Amino acid sequence: MQFGRIRNRDVDGPGPTGHRATGPVGRRDMRLPRHATLGAVGALVVALLPAPAAAAADTGAVTVAAGRSLYAAAEGTRVPVDLSVSTSDGRPLAAAVTVRWATGSGTATPGADYTAASGTLTFPAGSPSGATRTVPVTLRADGAAETAETVPLTLAADGATVTTRPTVVVAAHGLPYLDRRLPVRRRVADLLGRMTLAEKIGQMTQAERAAVADDPSAVARWQLGSVLSGGGSTPASNTPAAWVEMVNGLQAQALSTRLQIPLIYGIDAVHGHGNVVGATVFPHNVGLGATRDPRLVERVGQATAAEVRATGIPWNFAPCLCVSRDERWGRSYESFGEDPALVVSMETIIDGLQGRLGDTDRVLATAKHYAGDGDTDYDEAVAAANEGKPWWEQKYPIDQGVTVTDRARFARIDLAPYLPAVRAHKVGSVMPSFSSVDWTEDGLGNPTKMHAHRELITDVLKGRLGFDGFLISDWEGIHQIPDPAEPTNAGLTAYKVRVGVNAGTDMFMEPNSAEQFEQLLLAEATAGRVPTARIDDAVRRILTKKFELGLFEHPYASADGVDQVGSAAHRAVGREAVAKSQVLLKNAGHALPLRRDASLYVAGRNADDLGNQAGGWTVTWQGVSGADAVPGTSILDGIRQVAPGARITYSADASAPTDGAQVGVVVVGETPYAEGYGDVGGPECGWCSVPQQEEKSLRLQPGDRAVVDKVCSTLPTCVVLVVSGRPQVLTDQLGEIDALVASWLPGSEGAGVADVLFGRRPFTGRLPVSWPRDEAQVPVNVGDADYRPLFPFGWGLRTGQGRDGLAAVAADRPQVRAALAPAGWNADGSLRDAPGVLDRLGRQLRAEHRDAALAEAILGVARDAAQAAVVRGSAPENWATLIADADHAQLTGDPVRAFTLLARAAI
Ligand code: BGC
Ligand code: BGC
Repeated sequence: MQFGRIRNRDVDGPGPTGHRATGPVGRRDMRLPRHATLGAVGALVVALLPAPAAAAADTGAVTVAAGRSLYAAAEGTRVPVDLSVSTSDGRPLAAAVTVRWATGSGTATPGADYTAASGTLTFPAGSPSGATRTVPVTLRADGAAETAETVPLTLAADGATVTTRPTVVVAAHGLPYLDRRLPVRRRVADLLGRMTLAEKIGQMTQAERAAVADDPSAVARWQLGSVLSGGGSTPASNTPAAWVEMVNGLQAQALSTRLQIPLIYGIDAVHGHGNVVGATVFPHNVGLGATRDPRLVERVGQATAAEVRATGIPWNFAPCLCVSRDERWGRSYESFGEDPALVVSMETIIDGLQGRLGDTDRVLATAKHYAGDGDTDYDEAVAAANEGKPWWEQKYPIDQGVTVTDRARFARIDLAPYLPAVRAHKVGSVMPSFSSVDWTEDGLGNPTKMHAHRELITDVLKGRLGFDGFLISDWEGIHQIPDPAEPTNAGLTAYKVRVGVNAGTDMFMEPNSAEQFEQLLLAEATAGRVPTARIDDAVRRILTKKFELGLFEHPYASADGVDQVGSAAHRAVGREAVAKSQVLLKNAGHALPLRRDASLYVAGRNADDLGNQAGGWTVTWQGVSGADAVPGTSILDGIRQVAPGARITYSADASAPTDGAQVGVVVVGETPYAEGYGDVGGPECGWCSVPQQEEKSLRLQPGDRAVVDKVCSTLPTCVVLVVSGRPQVLTDQLGEIDALVASWLPGSEGAGVADVLFGRRPFTGRLPVSWPRDEAQVPVNVGDADYRPLFPFGWGLRTGQGRDGLAAVAADRPQVRAALAPAGWNADGSLRDAPGVLDRLGRQLRAEHRDAALAEAILGVARDAAQAAVVRGSAPENWATLIADADHAQLTGDPVRAFTLLARAAI
């Protein structure tokens, strides 16, 4: 297998949003030498940062280097600093090398904190290249409480070049904030009270990995509170162990500062730990929404957290609590669905991610993007202006746009997910949205960027909702705040920093301008334009989460957990999630499930493409097309696994003869994209793989349509699977398709798709978004006045027997038992006497509507009956509204109403 073919392509083009888009940032290496080792936490001497490799080039050149540049140790210990000598040609030393060493002047006091010492050390002629000797540095225990202090070592050598200046860090000790027995609140207050303004501002600053990769000491110099990996920003070798080593290396720098405040490293693990090759890639949120299974989604969160933490990372920029109202949005798949109630029900993922903060296999979660990100208006003018322009001059027609709404509707649709996220799930961080909001009450045309929205961030989120975590700005989010003095609105200015901080964001994602951000904020704060109280509020919130996460006690990750990444247990959770996310839209003549000994003709470009089935935010920001993009099981692999006895012809473009096949399985859909590059009418991804450069559309791509036509017109039975981040219009082909499945973006575990295709598990998924009849119909959402999608929100046929679900809850329930009487049912398990059966079930439900399992079983049967009536053509004209509203009612805890609506559609 070959990974990362396209991964490291360089892009540095002007971005579609006016600022320079960096493109995949994962192309710079840390260049850590192989011998780098990391000390165990709590060891007397933590061997931290590998020194840069010797640079000598001339034959025979000799270098002297310390094993690392930082040695951290507790007072009262003796620190062996290891020095090694090496020759550029690898031969033994031709002549002796004498190294003079001395403890130099840092912040530690000789006599009190350490014993001043100096000496010489000789590597005799003939010593092998790589020979190592140690120099002891003695740290004294003075008993006094102190912050961390440094003892630099000076080195000089005759006839050799010294390449490292090692520093011994005497760990802070005896201070209240270091005392784990004290309550977090006191530790925070103590620490905050010791911090300078510059140190506080450092805590508020987050740089990107690539900005510190070549010179990790910038972490200490800039006193950074955090570092992130943007999409695709990975260590040179993208293995779990290399991630741990990289994160720990940066942590060592943070711990060389005076107060030794640990870094909090953050990353987007939005469908599993997608940046890491070998991680379990779970279905994107749109698929999780289709499962309607909050407990399963919690387990997905837990598995994701375990994999993220196993690579040394304690913070995830997920979940997106966006409510996607318009599927032309390139981030639709990051949304659990179009109904805020569905999004709320999936917030169990936060519990899965966070556990009890402080558990070493969980992470801090981030609710994003606050708020209204899925509800922005499609800008036809932008789309029209994009036409004919090169991709780098095009703008996003909907992503990062403007939510035009009145306050009441904003509260109902866009804010709704945040109240339970904050109160019930205690989400630890929140990311404001790139988008703006334009209230209709005061007229149109005066939008405010969410990053500048003090009312919504400070008054509503921190005030009314009582959010006590911290806000992290989005990627250069404050750069987009319009500065009246800067008409081109490029880059960062004092104004943007001031407005952004004063609006209430606490930490600032400044991938490439961390230092500039700090300087601007320092000046603004010193001039009194950003109040000290605001800075203190920000830092208090950030420190609180760092303490709660246990980072002060366990700043370093152990490399022992790396086999968590992509483990069999996590892949099993993924496979289950995939199976439960599949939505059966049409199933004429019981085309599904398939027989395991069938003769199959498998076609379509997404049948055997792990990159396409994983989607965006996989290995790179935009994702990667390709069979070998990530390790995993493609849908075709899954079919082969689950039905080893099937006869399978596979032809992606359906060019192979179909002779002898009984059933066609056509897997079509989208290729990967992320953010505005997925907007319909938006820029194509110029640096991505060729299949990803197609124009985005809500219609199936022409090539896909042709494959569907070819297979479905030739074979007697034709099953079509749509692997995509959003519905694809195929109304005009529906007639020739026997069974239609929305597969979403399943990720690495394609066997889950095969499980439902062959009846190893029943189809149970339900639409998380309305499936449009045509493109002009979008936006179309549950609750709309004139609601006529092709398939409504909540639609999903089942291949299991509704009777089995009822039987499981029948004990001691006479009405359910009566409803199960054979007279009411056909031999194939469908309802014969819908009015009679539903009447009984309705009574039982009304009597016990608080019993969730009962409601689930009864509503399942009622929905089956309603959908059967639709398929028969006997449902009332407003059936779509009834079915969608029923699902909404169920999600909002009103099963009786849901039942009534479904019964109306059924009878
Ligand atoms: C990064 C992403 C980021 C995007 C923003 C990309 O280069 O990889 O993480 O979201 O830029 O423009
Ligand atoms: C995206 C965020 C993401 C961030 C870091 C931004 O472009 O909007 O969702 O967390 O990049 O990658």
